[in-house]
Amino acid sequence: MATTTYKDLEVLYSREQIAARVAEMGAQITRDLSGEKLVMVGVLKGAAPFLSDLARAVQVDATFDFVAVSSYGKGHRSSGAVKLIKDLDETVEGKNVLIVEDILDTGLTLSYLRKIMLQQRPKSLRIAALLDKPSRRIEKIEADYVGFSIPNLFVIGYGMDYAERYRNLPDICLMNPEQPE
Ligand code: IMP
Ligand code: MG
Repeated sequence: MATTTYKDLEVLYSREQIAARVAEMGAQITRDLSGEKLVMVGVLKGAAPFLSDLARAVQVDATFDFVAVSSYGKGHRSSGAVKLIKDLDETVEGKNVLIVEDILDTGLTLSYLRKIMLQQRPKSLRIAALLDKPSRRIEKIEADYVGFSIPNLFVIGYGMDYAERYRNLPDICLMNPEQPE
């Protein structure tokens, strides 16, 4: 039963803390876009809950699109290579784009996505990352909007997974690798 499986998880950011921070990020994005239209590009699957909440916290005329990449395998480790599994449905040429990602970690994923989206010549390109792990960076890239900056911890919940599990936890929790399944 889910409650048994999840009971020992340590909460890093509670749903209330997440909601408060997402509201602040939404207000900032609303100010920065000042009446412009926006395409919010979610990076599947981890960014889905964040995009859903952030989209309702911005007061702009927004549309959604989604991309999917493979950069992580089934566990903790990055394979290093980033591959596009699902492309944008529509070109972002001439549009204001906000890439919405769960975690900015090594930066490989967002560097790759930024590169392929810039090739389409958007009007503007911004990045919103709920979490940032600056100590893990390999590629030189920063997000325009960061929810929380964290040390090198492995987190789960609010979209983020370990081997595809835990994405539906409402809070952001710490993953203990020794945790019993
Ligand atoms: P990057 O390409 O190394 O920046 O990796 C970004 C992706 O790695 C994120 O979108 C996550 O899917 C995944 N990732 C990085 N750190 C974590 C973590 O602590 N928990 C879950 N997924 C993570
Ligand atoms: Mg991800």
